[in-house]
Amino acid sequence: MNKLIVVTGGSKGIGRSIIERFMAAGFDAVACARKTDDLKRLETETTSKLKESKLYTFTADLAQPEQVKEFASFITSLNRSITVLVNNAGYFVPGSLADEPEGALEQMMDANLFSAYRLTRCLLPTLKQQGHGHIFNMCSVASIKAYANGGSYAVTKFALLGFSKCLREELKPWNIRVTAVMPGATLTASWQGTHLPEERFMKAEDVADMVYACWAVSERSVVEEILIRPMQGDI
Ligand SMILES: NC(=O)c1ccc[n+]([C@@H]2O[C@H](COP(=O)([O-])OP(=O)(O)OC[C@H]3O[C@@H](n4cnc5c(N)ncnc54)[C@H](OP(=O)(O)O)[C@@H]3O)[C@@H](O)[C@H]2O)c1
Repeated sequence: MNKLIVVTGGSKGIGRSIIERFMAAGFDAVACARKTDDLKRLETETTSKLKESKLYTFTADLAQPEQVKEFASFITSLNRSITVLVNNAGYFVPGSLADEPEGALEQMMDANLFSAYRLTRCLLPTLKQQGHGHIFNMCSVASIKAYANGGSYAVTKFALLGFSKCLREELKPWNIRVTAVMPGATLTASWQGTHLPEERFMKAEDVADMVYACWAVSERSVVEEILIRPMQGDI
């Protein structure tokens, strides 16, 4: 049977590239997102190319605790080992802490941090019982570097890195690996409307290749952090 990867926010951008990378290597995948149409498109496009792999999709807003639970129940109902979990769902609203709209921090905490925290907690009993697994948390360069227009987004990504570090320490006894992924600017829908040239950004495929490479090292090692930036540095 194929191995299984679960990717939150798998319908677009970096999440989608990770799904395609792992499916090309023979994995089955579970993807979730809020928009069912995008998930259906992903399903059509991947299954026509990758006939040996199966894709499961689930519509959920992971900023909502009840929907996280429903997604987790869907995953466990498949009755499969979870080889890789990628907590990728999230979004960026630029701004300054002083001037961003009221509620920006709370909303981004729900989508960028609590989605990962809640889903991981739901799946940990399965992962611990397996005695293996690999959790990737999609942090950001904004997890280690504050910048003027980062606002609450950067606060949530610093927190997600903290979550990753704590999880890494906790899960050693169960042989569950934890990796914090910190990409710089990557050309996805999040950058729609940018006037910067395409070449100034990383490709989502490059982030996916790094995630796959980290998963593929032997069981004796864990890559704790991936820091990957555009060739010419941060934007
Ligand atoms: N692009 C960059 O430069 C960059 C750099 C560093 C880190 N990151 C991080 O990488 C991750 C992916 O970013 P991306 O650029 O690939 O974004 P993207 O192209 O906008 O894709 C985001 C994905 O997450 C889903 N999503 C968003 N909010 C969700 C929610 N509440 N519940 C469920 N799914 C949700 C989206 O689908 P729906 O809209 O249908 O829900 C989509 O599948 C994010 O965590 C982002 O912060 C991105």
